Amino acid sequence: MSLTIPDHVAIIMDGNGRWAKERGLPRTEGHRQGAKRVKEVVHQAKKKGIKVLTFFAFSTENWNRPKNEIRHLFDYLINFLTNYKKELIKEGIKLKIIGRRDRLNKKVLNKIDEIEKATCDNANFFLNIAIDYGGRWDIVSATKKIVQAVNNSSMKEEEIDEENFANYLSLSKFNDPDILVRTSGEKRISNFLIWQTAYTEFCFPGVLWPDFDKKWVDNIIEEYSGRVRKFGKINA
Ligand code: IPE
Ligand code: IPE
Ligand code: MG
Repeated sequence: MSLTIPDHVAIIMDGNGRWAKERGLPRTEGHRQGAKRVKEVVHQAKKKGIKVLTFFAFSTENWNRPKNEIRHLFDYLINFLTNYKKELIKEGIKLKIIGRRDRLNKKVLNKIDEIEKATCDNANFFLNIAIDYGGRWDIVSATKKIVQAVNNSSMKEEEIDEENFANYLSLSKFNDPDILVRTSGEKRISNFLIWQTAYTEFCFPGVLWPDFDKKWVDNIIEEYSGRVRKFGKINA
């Protein structure tokens, strides 16, 4: 079977807590191991010809977790970005963080700013990470921007359509994900890219995120290759 390589893969990294629990470890250890997988997956995806990866790292609802767990998650994020900087530059990978910025602390904001600036001219591969992201937030924030544009007359109400609405969303510069992968066996979207996944293929492997090694990237490509996308038409 010849393989069809998806351009854009979205990944909900789930199951870190269960991975740790199975080993009698604190949940935070699962997050630490999980963070380590990201580089390997990016590397393999790039090697296989995928162009864009969008990871879900922290949802707008994840603030409801214990403070200690949240603190660890952001510490791992800062470490991840710090340690990855050189390689991102060397490999020509452009990093973009999507999500709310108003609830992140200074240290996190500064780190995001530093890495986004250092990689802003890269175009070999696009790595998007969703932090304090919610699909509903994304749609509401696009709506607010459109209302502003209409109010200041830079846009007419009649001009609002699906295509230019999408221009105001977080991933406006990217095609919609071809496939969305959620690890750990949960079969839900948990407020990830709810607009952008209207015609995305879904895949729910049972593997827990800290065990998602590069072979899983190959599995996802194989799975995608077997899908028939119809977009409402009769013929693929
Ligand atoms: C995913 O793993 C990481 C985040 C949501 C930040 P979980 O922490 O949700 O792991 P489970 O679902 O409890 O196993
Ligand atoms: C979704 O996972 C968010 C991320 C992976 C960042 P959750 O573990 O928070 O989702 P629910 O609560 O099980 O739906
Ligand atoms: Mg979970």
